[in-house]
Amino acid sequence: MLLTEIDHIAIAVRDLEAAVEYYQKAFGATIDHREVVESDGVEEVLMKVAESYIQLRTPTNPDSPVAKAIEKRGEGLHHIGYRVDNCAEALASMIAAGATPIDKAPRPGSRGTTVAFMHPKGSFGTLIELVQE
Ligand code: CO
Repeated sequence: MLLTEIDHIAIAVRDLEAAVEYYQKAFGATIDHREVVESDGVEEVLMKVAESYIQLRTPTNPDSPVAKAIEKRGEGLHHIGYRVDNCAEALASMIAAGATPIDKAPRPGSRGTTVAFMHPKGSFGTLIELVQE
C-alpha cells in the first residue's frame, strides 16, 4: 500500500475567515498553518485532526482553479490529499493504473511538501493529490 495517511480533506470556500470561524466555533479547531500559494491561486488554512488536516481554501483571483470549481459546483469538497512516502513512485503507479495526471511530475506544494494532482476524470470523480512530507 503506497498511501500512509489521509493527509488532508480540502474544502473550497468563498469566505475563508467565516469558514475558519465556523470550524473554530463548531469543533474548537485551531489553525496549524496558513499560506497563500500564488502558483495555485489559493489561500489555505490547515487545521489538524489527529495525523490529518482539514484544509479550507479560497481563491485569491478569479482565474484560480478553485474559483472555477466554486463557480461550477458551489462551495464544498474540493480534493483529497493522500499522504505517500514517495510522490514520484505513487504518481507512476497511478498513471500505470490508468489515472490522468494534472502534474506530470512532482512539484512543490504548501508547507514544504512535494505534491502531484490527478484529474477526477481518471479517478472516479475525485480530484486526488499525492502529498509527500
Ligand atoms: Co491539497
